Amino acid sequence: MPRKLSALCSLLFALAAFSLPSALAQTAKPAPPPPTYIKAGHLFDATSDQLRDDVVVVVEGERITRVLPAAQAVIPADAAVIDLSKAWVLPGLIDCHTHLEGRADKYDPINDVKYTPFLGGFNGVVNANLTLQAGFTSVRDVGSQPFFAVDLRRTIDEGFIPGPRVVASGPGISITGGHGDMNGFAPAVENMMYPAERDYGIVDGPEQMRHVVREQIKYGVDVIKILATGGVLSQGDKPGAEQLTYEEMKMAVDEAHRAGRKVAAHAHGTEGIKNAVRAGVDSIEHGSLLDQEGMDLMKAHGTYLVADIYNDDYILGKAIDFGLPKEMVDKEKTVGRLQRENFAKAVAAGVKIAFGTDAGVYPHGDNAKQFHYMVKFGMTPAGAIRAATSSAADLIDRAATVGTLEAGKYADLIAVTANPLDRVETLEHVAFVMKGGKVYKDETGAAKPR
Ligand code: ARG
Repeated sequence: MPRKLSALCSLLFALAAFSLPSALAQTAKPAPPPPTYIKAGHLFDATSDQLRDDVVVVVEGERITRVLPAAQAVIPADAAVIDLSKAWVLPGLIDCHTHLEGRADKYDPINDVKYTPFLGGFNGVVNANLTLQAGFTSVRDVGSQPFFAVDLRRTIDEGFIPGPRVVASGPGISITGGHGDMNGFAPAVENMMYPAERDYGIVDGPEQMRHVVREQIKYGVDVIKILATGGVLSQGDKPGAEQLTYEEMKMAVDEAHRAGRKVAAHAHGTEGIKNAVRAGVDSIEHGSLLDQEGMDLMKAHGTYLVADIYNDDYILGKAIDFGLPKEMVDKEKTVGRLQRENFAKAVAAGVKIAFGTDAGVYPHGDNAKQFHYMVKFGMTPAGAIRAATSSAADLIDRAATVGTLEAGKYADLIAVTANPLDRVETLEHVAFVMKGGKVYKDETGAAKPR
């Protein structure tokens, strides 16, 4: 036997011997966890646009096992009860566009030179908790250093730190000199920095795209983020300009889909949006300069629009105070208003909408501030909430486990103390958060032992 192979065999034997006793121990089934009964005064389960009154949600372990009218629920006298009978209960919210690695409370023009993975890690721990406390129990994190989001997902799933479920991408895949590259530095400076981000995030040509997508999948990403056009918060490029070619994007989609991964395309510019849709991406992020043909293509392909229409407030407000470069502020002025107007047109045209905010550009935890704009620019409150629940779950490929409140799904749910269908801004003040059957926030006192 070749040496390498025999070493592998002994490793496998060792692993098998190690796991055998625990496999035997598992044959004695542990007792199922006792159910918790959640009394919901009003329930928006996100399977329709309607509210139901007086419902009981039964949670066993991390899953919902039943959702039934209160009149039919038999609750044992000694059962654990969470009394949200005066509240509005909804599925945990989902943000399809976050950057949990980033901070929005400062801007440092030479941040790229000072940044380390450690800083990103510390930011992620804090930001994940802020996001969960704001009622967002799942996020799709679309663009960070390799492989921050994969490690964050793992650490949260292990229960070591609190945070939302994370659908993880690697770095957004960019052309050389594009939105995801580090522009504006001398070559000697740039070569010293971010070797990993360059290796896993910059491509020129379809074959390089194939390699990088495969590498990202190898290191554990759930979703591929590509940068179809220039951007606002980058130097030396224009949001309206095409970057990745159709052929490069088609390669990304083919490789990702073959591996069961979806593709999210950052695209502000009109032509870049259309090329990305034609290449088969699953969502257009930003979509600022979307035109009628782009909308028709998105409808024909079933492509989601994930438009971060709260961001403009922050970039042209607070971010100016802390010194965001004029180039970026000026670029924002060319897309912000148009993005909102085109969002309204897309809603009216029936383009599929999923909620995504670009949290990290503005402070994490403020995610729900975007609902106000989604309703102001054409959605109903119920539609905006479904964009952040059932539709978002569909886009992130987690519809089997999250996004609605139904038997079999994870017990990811939130409560607010006023009707969000009357005032969607109510969601900016989430009073109760449960994720996987565990209570992470309770300002109602409902979960206190009686
Ligand atoms: N990450 C995006 C970019 O730099 C942010 C765009 C924000 N502006 C907006 N109007 N949504 O391009």
